[in-house]
Amino acid sequence: MSDKLIIFDTTLRDGEQSPGASMTRDEKVRIARALERLRVDVIEAGFPAASPGDFESVQAVARAVRDSSVCGLARALDRDIDRAGEALKDAQRPRIHTFIATSPIHMQRKLNMTPDQVVEHAVKAVRRARQYADDVEFSPEDAGRSEEDFLCRILEAVIDAGARTLNIPDTVGYAMPDQFGGMIGRLIERIPNSDKAIFSVHCHNDLGLAVANSLSAVMHGARQVECTINGLGERAGNAALEEIVMAVRTRRDFFPCHTDIDTREIVACSKLVSNITGFPVQPNKAIVGANAFAHESGIHQDGVLKSRETYEIMSAEEVGWTANRMVLGKHSGRNAFRTRMQELGIDFASEQDLNAAFQRFKELADKKHDIFDEDLQALITEAGVEAEDECVRLVYLHVCSETGEVPNARVTVKVDNEELTGTAVGGGAVDASLKAIESLVHAEANLQLYSVNAITSGTDSQGEVTVRLEKGGRIVNGQGADTDIVIASAKAYVNAVNKLRTSKQRMHPQVGDV
Ligand code: KIV
Ligand code: ZN
Repeated sequence: MSDKLIIFDTTLRDGEQSPGASMTRDEKVRIARALERLRVDVIEAGFPAASPGDFESVQAVARAVRDSSVCGLARALDRDIDRAGEALKDAQRPRIHTFIATSPIHMQRKLNMTPDQVVEHAVKAVRRARQYADDVEFSPEDAGRSEEDFLCRILEAVIDAGARTLNIPDTVGYAMPDQFGGMIGRLIERIPNSDKAIFSVHCHNDLGLAVANSLSAVMHGARQVECTINGLGERAGNAALEEIVMAVRTRRDFFPCHTDIDTREIVACSKLVSNITGFPVQPNKAIVGANAFAHESGIHQDGVLKSRETYEIMSAEEVGWTANRMVLGKHSGRNAFRTRMQELGIDFASEQDLNAAFQRFKELADKKHDIFDEDLQALITEAGVEAEDECVRLVYLHVCSETGEVPNARVTVKVDNEELTGTAVGGGAVDASLKAIESLVHAEANLQLYSVNAITSGTDSQGEVTVRLEKGGRIVNGQGADTDIVIASAKAYVNAVNKLRTSKQRMHPQVGDV
């Protein structure tokens, strides 16, 4: 058995299935480039049949990425597989991932199919996918609640049909580590042609066990783990890439395998995903949380100062927590700016785009002395946000906040090119500002989340604000960044309103007929 553990990242597909985490094509390309720098083996770029926009995103990632395999998800349907094959046409290393549900409850209630029909669909889908790519992966959806005998039967059949990776998903996060690992071991043992395929796992975190279940499977022979940055994903999320990778690396005495991940890129990638999706990372999150390497109690600090290993099992530097690097400043020129952006995987489509971004950088550098990579990423996210289908634009904001007085705000916004001004009072400066904007745009949505995060350290840090709005079942996340958090909040609200106005219908891969 190989000692290489393949890291399959599905941040752009399963991660994007988190409510409100949808990403634009350009954002997906930026994340894909960061994943490539991280040296993930496979990037699942999306579900091309979901919508024309999803198709274009997968195509753009396929064209941008050279080193990692790029994968497209397809239900076991001819039209999905054809769309995936088409979207991946220009990929250096294309992979098609096709799936069909195999648990009794899914086959009966969702698919309305007999087990024989499910096997027939799966085999046909794998054969069709092989017409587009040599690298085909098959998943029996809801394997965690499927019968083992049936899994053996369908998996043997799809290997014969040409599947090279068999991914065993715990779709609903129901499995327990020993049980799940044991099942993987038995499948490998019982399926006669199992040596012709790599066994993979895809665990959801509904009971907080996604990483534990994945690692148990690795101990029983799985050699691919599907995971996401920051554990993003449907409902409670997927197994967190950074936790899987660092567990295998830190406990190399225990795990019989290694990954090729460049761990020093982990934190940058985590921040980028958080910045683009608007999903903050909790401070005590393993590896990538702000407190993951912070020591508070005097005893711990004393121990760490004497000898790091007393309380640290990994080093902060190993995962990319180097002190914020001041990369550019007020006097940096256009070339230095362009070069650093290129190093971050950001190419400008035209000189005009470069000039616009450079102008924003100069404005930021006037307000903030040191500019870090995180500031540059936020700058680009914001530029993308404004470029996209912007119907509402923040023009002016004046807020008055004084001890003992009720805060009030005056706001001017441009709605479909018409300038409107409104005022409101509120419980605080942010509340008054958002109320003033709402009085002009009439989004009439439910505010589900408001969060502020400092992008870097220091009181002159930019505040990164996420506003999540829900309307008629649709959920969007708006982002805004500024050295003034009231302005950042107003930008985030306006961004969410724009997304509500323009977000398009797309199909969910796991809801529907097959
Ligand atoms: O959770 C799941 O079962 C999935 C499949 C599509 C692999 O995401
Ligand atoms: Zn999933």
